[in-house]
Amino acid sequence: MNASTIVIVGAGQAGALAAAELRQQGYAGRVVLIGEERHAPYERPPLSKDVLLQPQTARCAIHGETFYTERNIELRLGAAVTALDAQARTVTLDSGEAIAFDSLLLATGARVRRLPVLDALDTLGGPGESVHTLRTLDDAQRLVPVLQAGKRVLLVGAGVIGLELASSAVELGAQVAVIEQAPRAMARCAPPVLTEALCDLHRARGVALHLGSPLAAAARENGEIVLTLEDGTRVAGDAVIYGIGVVPETALAQAAGLRVDNGIVIDAQCRTSCAHIYAAGDAASQWDEASGRHQRRETWENANRQAQTAARAMLGLAPEAEDAREADWFWTDQCGLNIQFAGNMAAPEWLARGSLEAPPCVLFGLDGEGTLVGAITVNQGRDMRSARALIDKRARIARETLADPAQNLRNLAREFA
Ligand code: APR
Repeated sequence: MNASTIVIVGAGQAGALAAAELRQQGYAGRVVLIGEERHAPYERPPLSKDVLLQPQTARCAIHGETFYTERNIELRLGAAVTALDAQARTVTLDSGEAIAFDSLLLATGARVRRLPVLDALDTLGGPGESVHTLRTLDDAQRLVPVLQAGKRVLLVGAGVIGLELASSAVELGAQVAVIEQAPRAMARCAPPVLTEALCDLHRARGVALHLGSPLAAAARENGEIVLTLEDGTRVAGDAVIYGIGVVPETALAQAAGLRVDNGIVIDAQCRTSCAHIYAAGDAASQWDEASGRHQRRETWENANRQAQTAARAMLGLAPEAEDAREADWFWTDQCGLNIQFAGNMAAPEWLARGSLEAPPCVLFGLDGEGTLVGAITVNQGRDMRSARALIDKRARIARETLADPAQNLRNLAREFA
C-alpha cells in the first residue's frame, strides 16, 4: 500500500477533508489533491457573510498554511483535470501532465446554474461587470465593491444564497430587491412556516421581495439595469447577483463512463460504478434508504461525512459507527439569526416551542403519525444535537411536551437513548 497513489480531484470541503482523513488513518502513500482554483481549500459558508461583511479580517481556509506540507499532501492548485482514464488509472491536467493513481476520489463539487438572460447584460456595453453569482472565493471578493451603501442590488433567486446575500447587503447599507420565481422563498430546503417568518423579517429590514413571478426580461436602460417580471413588475438597480441553484460537476465522471444520474452515483462506501474510483460531496449522488432513491446532498456536513467515508473505504476501513445515519443537518445565518435544520423539511406538521417572532425558538416537524421527523432551531443551536438524536430514534413525544420550553430536550433525548 505504501507505494500507492491516491489522487483527489477537487480541493473543496470534501477533497480537503478526505486528504486529511487519509493521513489521519495512517495512509503513507502519495496523496495528490488537485484544485482548479488558485486558493488553498476554503470553507464556503463564510462567503455570503463574513467575507463580504469583514473582507479584511474574514478567514475561511479549511486547514492552516502548513497543514498540507506537514502531512506530505501534494496540493496542486490552479490545475484543472481535463481527462480521466478509468481503466488506465490516470488523470491528465490542463498542463498536459498525466498522474497515475491506484485509487481516485472525485470531489468535483457543483457549479452555479447560469441564467443566460442575465449573463447577456454584461455584453450589452454597461459600465463594467455588473452581473454576478456567488460560489467561489473569487466571486465573493468581486462582490465586495458591489455591496456598498447606497447601491441598488437586484438579487435573483430567494434560496439560501439569495437570502443570505440580502441580509449581508442590507447590513452594508445597500438597497435590496429580491426576485424569486417560486411562490415562496427557500422552498427547496425549508417549510413555509419558517420561510414566511423569515421573509417578514427581511421586509422589515427594507428588502423588497418579489415572489411568485418569473423573470421575463433584463435590459440596460439609461445606465441602470431593469428586470421585468412576467406579471409586468419592473425593478431597477445598479447590479445583479443571482443564486438560482447549482448543478453537479460530473463531466469527468461521465466522459470516463461512470454511472451518473443527477450526480456521480455512489454506494454506501462512496464507491462509484468503477471499483477503484470514489466520489464525495455536492457532485455525488448516494442511495438513500429512507426515500428509496439516489440523492445529492448539498451541505457542508455531507461533504465532510462522505469525504471521511470515502477515505476510510479507500483504505479498506469501515465507516465511523456514528456516521451510520444521522438526520441531515445544515444551517443558515441571516437577519441576525442562526437557523439550523435537521431531518425532513417536508414534514406535514410543524409545532413551535417558543415563537418565531421572538427567538430563541424550536420548530418540530411531525409526520402523519406524530413521529418526530424534522427540527429547526432558531438561535437555539444548543438543542440541535438532541433534536437530531430524537429524529434518529423516530421519537413520538406528546405535543404539550415538545411545545413546553421547560422540558429539556437533552433529557428527552436521554429517555429515548
Ligand atoms: N428566477 C428566479 N428565481 C429562480 C430562477 C429564476 N429563473 N430559477 C431558480 N430560482 C430560484 C429557485 O426557485 C430557488 O428558490 O432560485 C432559488 C435557488 O435556491 P437554492 O436551491 O437554495 O440555491 P442557491 O441559493 O443558489 O444555493 C446554492 O449553495 O449554500 C448552498 O445549500 C446551498 O447548495 C446550495 C447552494
